[in-house]
Amino acid sequence: MKKPILSLTLAATLAIGAVSVQAAVKQEPAAKAAQHFQDPFEKKILKAISAENIYENIDYLSKVPRVAGTESEAKAVQFIKEEFESYGYKADVQPFTFYGYTPPSSISLSVDGYEGELKPQAFTYSVSGNVSGELVLAGLGKKDELSSLDLSGKIALIKRGEISFAEKVLNAAEKGAAGVIIYNNAEGPLSGTLGEHNDKFVPSAALSKAEGEALLSQIGKTVSLSIVGAETGEKTSHNVIAVKKPTGKKSAANDIIVLGAHHDSVADAPGANDDASGTAMTLELARVLKNVPADTEIRFVTFGAEEVGLLGSEHYVSTLSDDEISRTVANFNLDMVGSRDAGDLVMLTLDGKPNLVTDLAQKSSEKLNGEPTPYGQGGRSDHVPFAEAGIPAALFIHSPSEPWYHTPEDSIDKISKEKLQDTAEIVGTAIYDLARMDQIGPKPKKAPKVKAPDELKTEENIK
Ligand code: BES
Ligand code: ZN
Repeated sequence: MKKPILSLTLAATLAIGAVSVQAAVKQEPAAKAAQHFQDPFEKKILKAISAENIYENIDYLSKVPRVAGTESEAKAVQFIKEEFESYGYKADVQPFTFYGYTPPSSISLSVDGYEGELKPQAFTYSVSGNVSGELVLAGLGKKDELSSLDLSGKIALIKRGEISFAEKVLNAAEKGAAGVIIYNNAEGPLSGTLGEHNDKFVPSAALSKAEGEALLSQIGKTVSLSIVGAETGEKTSHNVIAVKKPTGKKSAANDIIVLGAHHDSVADAPGANDDASGTAMTLELARVLKNVPADTEIRFVTFGAEEVGLLGSEHYVSTLSDDEISRTVANFNLDMVGSRDAGDLVMLTLDGKPNLVTDLAQKSSEKLNGEPTPYGQGGRSDHVPFAEAGIPAALFIHSPSEPWYHTPEDSIDKISKEKLQDTAEIVGTAIYDLARMDQIGPKPKKAPKVKAPDELKTEENIK
């Protein structure tokens, strides 16, 4: 296998968001590099991969958000299981519990006699409740500002800034406020998190700067705030696992490849690209690879609760025996693989170094496109628990990300069939290259264990 050759003078360093991606140096002119795939099954795989199938499944999955632990995640899980079964797999649903937040089903805010439009947003961890009271101006909600105010049974109107949203809500609650409205100090709507559940929270909502400033003329009026259906508690999410056992006699090496993607989304986002795209691509590659001869076990896994902290992949890896971990030779993680408005395909590894997965995908991308897909460093997705367990793992993603990431605009109309086809071909042939009936040599080398720096693992706590 050809190792990517990097030299200090030649390696092109492309700035891609927060990560830097090193392009492996092209060694041959593109025309010469477009080699033929020799193995008849490789040709079959390439012929069989259908961006149309992937697109249709993204379309189905992205009708509504699929927040971990909700009904709609459970519906997606059922769909994925049935798809695997329709290809001839037995699919297992692996449940796991976590402590999490269910966003409200509805939120409303009105001010007596006020005609202006208000579009209140809940914070993550906003509590449910139906409260009303006099609107009181409470500055930035800092303790010293509130000390001289009577907030008892009232609704505090607080501006964003200086202290966290949670501190503002707790400071007002401590002074007896029945509810809290926080408005933005910058243009645009406000959304954010209170960080974690607190029994002392009172119902609280976010408004845009314009909405909040308009309410400054309504101080003293009666305000009603109603938040319905929000709750924090134990939830159940699921992974879905379909296994292709090695064909023929038991292989000498007994290796396992894991191809995976997360099926959950964030609230309010249909998650067409993040990550119905990876989920639908995992399904398509499971379909295409079902009957190809392979001496390596291939596990197709869709993970739940990625968006609340990589919980599904952590759970999956935690259920593996030491033997299964040492037999797992590669994790291909597909996350955000179809956006029309994102950049080119890159591979991100936790330590930024190449590994078996990036080597194989560079080999296949070079054969397909005449140039190897570049790699760089990045966490933030389900390859992290695999890499931490010492398994060669990489995230396949287009970089820089599209502007619709984690917004209601992450919808099917932004999906590119060309990007889906290209990524699926690269990953499908790379997996086949490793899985095919050829295991006579030594086992591939394991990657060293790496620990994810915290900034690559955690969600931003927006102030
Ligand atoms: N697909 C994203 C990760 C991502 C986005 C990586 C853009 C690189 C560029 C993933 O679903 C996600 O949103 N992850 C969370 C982290 C997780 C630990 C909650 C994130 O990045 O906020
Ligand atoms: Zn994602």
